Amino acid sequence: MSAQTDIRRLTAPDIRARKGGEPIVMLTSYHAHTARLVDQHADVILVGDSLGMVMHGMESTVPVTLDMMILQGLAVMRGSKRALVVIDLPFGAYEESREQAFRSAARILKETGCGAVKLEGGARMADTIRFLTERGVPVMAHVGLTPQSINALGSFKAQGRDRADWPVFLADAKAVADAGAFSVVVEAVAEPLGREITQAVAIPTIGIGASVACDGQVLVLEDMLGLTPWSPKFVKRYGELGPHIAKAVETYAQEVRSRAFPGPEHTYAEKKPAK
Ligand code: KIV
Repeated sequence: MSAQTDIRRLTAPDIRARKGGEPIVMLTSYHAHTARLVDQHADVILVGDSLGMVMHGMESTVPVTLDMMILQGLAVMRGSKRALVVIDLPFGAYEESREQAFRSAARILKETGCGAVKLEGGARMADTIRFLTERGVPVMAHVGLTPQSINALGSFKAQGRDRADWPVFLADAKAVADAGAFSVVVEAVAEPLGREITQAVAIPTIGIGASVACDGQVLVLEDMLGLTPWSPKFVKRYGELGPHIAKAVETYAQEVRSRAFPGPEHTYAEKKPAK
């Protein structure tokens, strides 16, 4: 017996096949309601561990747990029908060993029903990526700036600004592609490096502050909506929802305080059927 649905979700192989083709649209979402909106236009929804900073006000993504990722991943799966949902493996849930990575990834796939996981790291994670992909776990890799390493990096600054460092980043991208990743996020690297990585690997690159030449782009939804007080310099804001929300809350507060708030009588009266 199989569960049939009208709309087929995009899969990791569908995204893999988009190399050099129609650009891949990817956005983050952590909730059912935003997932429903994003799903209408995006190919991939990323339940990123950025949720630690965006939803929970953490200083970095380091404290995010596997349980947090699974809880929000489930919400996004409930809210979406069409996009491939990719869930981040959080810091501490995969670096120790290939087996630990498999156990964490298996929990994510089994408990949420999502289609793939993402993990940070290049050549150093190649062995793990091979282990996972050989065992049925589609993996999106993440190179360039890897925010989970903030304590080692010292800041979230762009990577590869010095041409002498480029071979390391190129080797990272090639290593994850050779290991079987179906795509790779390239975060905050010098534009020509993002372009070169895209030319050098056979899998789609998804840029975030990297290069327009990447095979797709990703942004944190709340950043592009203008909901976060701060966002990286490269983020284009497609909305300014923060001030709209503040204005709506102010109007509501004024109406409640002046007893102008439309109570249930108003709502029920409107819904009464005409005689
Ligand atoms: O956690 C996240 O949202 C991400 C994106 C910034 C790529 O990894």
